[in-house]
Amino acid sequence: MKKQTLHSIQKLKDNGEPIAALTAYDSSFAKLVSQLGIDIILVGDSLGMVIQGHQSTVPVSMQNMTYHTQCVASANQGSWLITDMPYMSYATESQTLANAAQLMQAGANMVKLEGGQWLCSSIQKLTERGIPVCAHLGLTPQSADALGGFKVQGRDEVNAKQIIQDALSIEKAGASLLVLECVPSSLAAEITKQLNIPTIGIGAGNQTDGQVLVLQDMLGINRDFRPRFVRNFFEDKKVNSVDEAITAYISAVKNRSFPDDEHSFV
Ligand code: KIV
Repeated sequence: MKKQTLHSIQKLKDNGEPIAALTAYDSSFAKLVSQLGIDIILVGDSLGMVIQGHQSTVPVSMQNMTYHTQCVASANQGSWLITDMPYMSYATESQTLANAAQLMQAGANMVKLEGGQWLCSSIQKLTERGIPVCAHLGLTPQSADALGGFKVQGRDEVNAKQIIQDALSIEKAGASLLVLECVPSSLAAEITKQLNIPTIGIGAGNQTDGQVLVLQDMLGINRDFRPRFVRNFFEDKKVNSVDEAITAYISAVKNRSFPDDEHSFV
């Protein structure tokens, strides 16, 4: 299994090869997805909903993220490992540095923070100190209450321009990756064109440099939760095992057949 690095992930964008990412929160799934060739594992704070049963990511703590990062890192076979900084763990610069250091010491290769221009100074400080940063724009679940719920972002011109400006700013500040969640495909495509760093989409169409899904969602585990951008890879008649579903997801990302229009927003 090839060990992914910041350089090899950037090279995927530069060579036009889509980047396949999935969440994992435990060692068993981390081992499986990395053995099957996933480029990036995200220890997402979505674990607050998927593992802990909360209605949002807000209750997730640094202790939770540290524990799950340790579980995943112990079994990862070479995928690039990103860990979410949880709610309010990066409210001030000193908190950001101390908490990011804790997640890196737990085994993360990179930390992910939700937000745009207001984060630039923190992103600069983290990268100056050798901590790679992934930013997250569009629907930022930690601020879902402020956004009026889990809604598609960037549909009006003012909001779309703001997201583009945020994306350019976080790249300039030193971010090495950008997650774009629930934005119109055309906006994600425009941002991907303007940035040198890779973009990873979720509900952002198939013109981003890569895709990420929550593992349990693409396996259809939760029957009550099926947002538009999720495809259940187990529903395919040719898929008979978890391994085959994950492999089918990776292939669909790599050949850009996922997401299609049915799983994207205009
Ligand atoms: O927490 C998470 O799993 C995420 C993805 C949905 C991008 O941030």
